[in-house]
Amino acid sequence: MLSRSVLGVAAALTTYITLSYAECTREGLLAAASSYLAAQTSGNIASLKISATNFTYQQNNKNADIKTGVLSQPLKIDLNRTTADTVACASYTMLISSTGSKPYVISTQIRHADGDVGTISSIDSIVATTGALFFNAAKTLSYIQKENWGTLDESQRANRTELKRVGDAYLDMWTDAKAADSIPWGTDCERVEGSQYTRPCGASLPRGGSAKNNGNRRYVIDETVGSVDVLCSFDALGNLPDSHEIRLEGGKVKYVHTVTVMR
Ligand SMILES: *[C@@H]1O[C@H](CO)[C@@H](O)[C@H](O)[C@H]1NC(C)=O
Ligand SMILES: *[C@@H]1O[C@H](CO)[C@@H](O)[C@H](O)[C@H]1NC(C)=O
Ligand SMILES: *[C@@H]1O[C@H](CO)[C@@H](O)[C@H](O)[C@H]1NC(C)=O
Repeated sequence: MLSRSVLGVAAALTTYITLSYAECTREGLLAAASSYLAAQTSGNIASLKISATNFTYQQNNKNADIKTGVLSQPLKIDLNRTTADTVACASYTMLISSTGSKPYVISTQIRHADGDVGTISSIDSIVATTGALFFNAAKTLSYIQKENWGTLDESQRANRTELKRVGDAYLDMWTDAKAADSIPWGTDCERVEGSQYTRPCGASLPRGGSAKNNGNRRYVIDETVGSVDVLCSFDALGNLPDSHEIRLEGGKVKYVHTVTVMR
C-alpha cells in the first residue's frame, strides 16, 4: 500500500513539473523576437503572444500603453539583430529604421516568465529618434552594417559572469575612477554611441566624477556571440533612458553600442 501511494505521489509530481516548467530555448526566444519585429514592421500587435496575466510594456523606462506606443506605428526596418539569454529567458533586439518618415533606433528587451517562451511577459524598449544623443539613424546604420556579430568559437567566448562584470564596469566608469582600467579593451574595438564613432574604443574614457550611479540595470547576456546588453537609467548624466551593448571577442571588448534618449 505504502509503495503504491509513493508511486502515486511521484507520478503526480512528474505531471506537475511537466506542466509548470517549459524549457527556455534559444529557438523559442528568437521566434518571439521575430514576432516582435513583425509587429513593428506592420504596426500591429495582434499577433504578439502577450501574457494575459502578467505583462508590462515600458518605453524609455516608463510604463506605457503598448496600443499607443511606437509598436502601433509601422516601421520599415533597415537592420535588426537579436541576442538570446536562455538563463534569464529574455532576448535583446536592436533595430534601425532610417528610411521612413521618422527615423528610429530601438533597443528592446523581451522577457518571458516561468521559462515559457510561448508567452511574452514584458517588452522594454529604449526608443531613440531625432533629438536623442548623437542621433543620426543613417550614420548609425552605416557603422553597424559593417560589424561582424557572428557566433563565436567556444574558445573565443567569455563566460556569463565576465560579460556581466564588463557591462557593469562600463556603466560604473562615470562613478568609479578605477572601472575603466578593469575593462579588457581590445586593441581594435569600435564604439558607436548614437552615431558618434570612436576607434579604438578604449580611448578617452570617463574616470569617475559623477556621484550618481547608473541605475535600474536590466541585462540580456548571450555568451554565444559574446554580448551583454544593459538597459538602464543613465543617472550619471541625468536620468536618461539608455541601452549599452558590448561584444567581447576572445575576452576583449570588440564593439560598444549605446542608445541614449535625452529628456
Ligand atoms: C531581420 O534581419 C534579418 C537578417 O539579419 C532579415 O532576414 C530579416 O528579414 C529582418 N527582419 C525584419 C523584420 O526586417
Ligand atoms: C511576471 O513577469 C516577470 C518578467 O517579465 C517576472 O519576473 C515575474 O516573476 C512575473 N510575475 C509573475 C507573478 O509571474
Ligand atoms: C569566467 O571568466 C573569468 C574571466 O576570464 C574567469 O576569471 C572566471 O574564473 C570564469 N568563471 C567561471 C565560472 O568559469
